[in-house]
Amino acid sequence: MRTILSALISLLLLASGMSAQQSPSAHLALTPPMGWNSWNKFACNVSEDLIKGMADAVVKSGMKDAGYVYVNIDDCWQVSRDAAGNIVADPQHFPHGMKAVGDYIHSLGLKFGVYSDAGSKTCAGRPGGLGHEYQDALQYAAWGVDYLKYDWCNTTTQDAKASYANMRAALDASGRPIVLSICEWGTAKPWLWGKDAGGNLWRTTDDITDRFGGREKWPDGSCCSNGVLAILDQQVGLQSYAGPGHWNDPDMLEVGNGGMTDTEYRAHFSLWALLAAPLIAGNDLRSMRPEIHDILTNKEVIAIDQDKLGREGERVAKDGDLEVWSKQLKDGSRAVILLNRGGSDQQMSVKWVDIGYPDKLSATVRDLWQHKDLGTFTGAFSAGVASHGVVMVTVKP
Ligand code: GLA
Repeated sequence: MRTILSALISLLLLASGMSAQQSPSAHLALTPPMGWNSWNKFACNVSEDLIKGMADAVVKSGMKDAGYVYVNIDDCWQVSRDAAGNIVADPQHFPHGMKAVGDYIHSLGLKFGVYSDAGSKTCAGRPGGLGHEYQDALQYAAWGVDYLKYDWCNTTTQDAKASYANMRAALDASGRPIVLSICEWGTAKPWLWGKDAGGNLWRTTDDITDRFGGREKWPDGSCCSNGVLAILDQQVGLQSYAGPGHWNDPDMLEVGNGGMTDTEYRAHFSLWALLAAPLIAGNDLRSMRPEIHDILTNKEVIAIDQDKLGREGERVAKDGDLEVWSKQLKDGSRAVILLNRGGSDQQMSVKWVDIGYPDKLSATVRDLWQHKDLGTFTGAFSAGVASHGVVMVTVKP
């Protein structure tokens, strides 16, 4: 009896091992995805010209060299379904169809992303994917889609995990490796099930606003807009759920969209890198100021985000507005952020004991924004930190 049982178990394991090997999505997003998305700057105003122009800019600006690869069209590219139920792209704004857009993006060595929704309609009221999952997945694969952001509007009583697992199965059945970006806003705690459902990243909060501060009511009194700090606070405690292939997503970048100072944008970008967040730029790459370009292409900060160990950083000390965040890196060193949320410049420090090192250890410290080695320190490192700013360093024993 035992032999039959163990033979059965081995067969089952073999079968699941084989299917894992065959799954086209098995090795996607081993580091957090990097790219550009249309929503934060352009909302519903998407078109073939815009997307092609932005893909050109990803290359010309040096963003591609810095690691940005996905060019993602968010909501509003779709207008209807045809008689056979196939999704129809807006013929006015995408006159050559979606495959032509994908081909252009691929010709530049970049990857192509689209957006849909698990419910009957997208958040902007365009046709959603409900009931068309396998049909849509085949269509996306035929267009050469590499990345699908799947939203959660108009889902009524649907179960979130089942809905996203269904879309993952549909994408895999298409035979094309497609990153699945779960955009469920954190409502049903996707960090608990997103990986099992086959998601490569999942939003942990509702939408980001181009503002530094906390959670605030919208001008009409409804709740709520999330500044960078509000989103940051909602990441505390989620770090253990992230890892290669499956990331917490604190939403796309607002760097360069005009609502924050450069100091605040530097903090936003540094914190997202330390959180091992997807780095999806959301500004107009065709007309960036040099300061914004230098933030988005800071290779030393990007290397922290893309570190192969795949750890998400965490808050390790907090004293009012002064916080220390730390991320373990593959070589055993730490990336550390001194964050000053307050209204005046402050002297801050990180203690080695707070980042998992013994007090007596000597370690070299490098500033990732000044691109400068600062020397060898024992037990702690201190620096002046601007109001709403960060100092970001690596600490290497
Ligand atoms: C939701 C998502 C956003 C964006 C819009 C599009 O609000 O959270 O990121 O995709 O829908 O309508």
